[in-house]
Amino acid sequence: MKIAIGSDHAAFELKERLVGYLLKKGIEVINCGAYSIESTDYPDYAKKVSEKVVSKECDFGILLCGTGIGMSIAANKIKGIRAALCMFPDMALYARKHNDANVLVLAGRLMGVELAEWTVDAFLSTDFEGGRHERRVKKIEELEE
Ligand code: RB5
Repeated sequence: MKIAIGSDHAAFELKERLVGYLLKKGIEVINCGAYSIESTDYPDYAKKVSEKVVSKECDFGILLCGTGIGMSIAANKIKGIRAALCMFPDMALYARKHNDANVLVLAGRLMGVELAEWTVDAFLSTDFEGGRHERRVKKIEELEE
């Protein structure tokens, strides 16, 4: 599995912790920045990570900003992206099961490291259920046209 991850300055530290966590699990990671706590603009990282998911260079994306809200808004502007802001593991589980989310968004200023790790685990270990949810995801795709 290959993951693209990115954050702005507000979530830089949590993002770096998650990079280490994923690598330790044997997951390939492309760290799209930010690379320091210097002030940056979250849409730049939403774009970088989302492009790697849409092009299928990566299986999933993980995006973090202070609240996760800006990253969600930005990433969901990109065709083919279903970004889900998840504050705890069950949200991530259903984001995969029901919504086939391909980008997990986390709130760097509102989540502790362990909660973020558990939420990532739930996201990466859950498959899309398909069935009636397939029809709904197709309708989302139609909204992009
Ligand atoms: C940056 O201060 C902050 O606005 C950003 O990280 C994010 O929370 C936006 O939604």
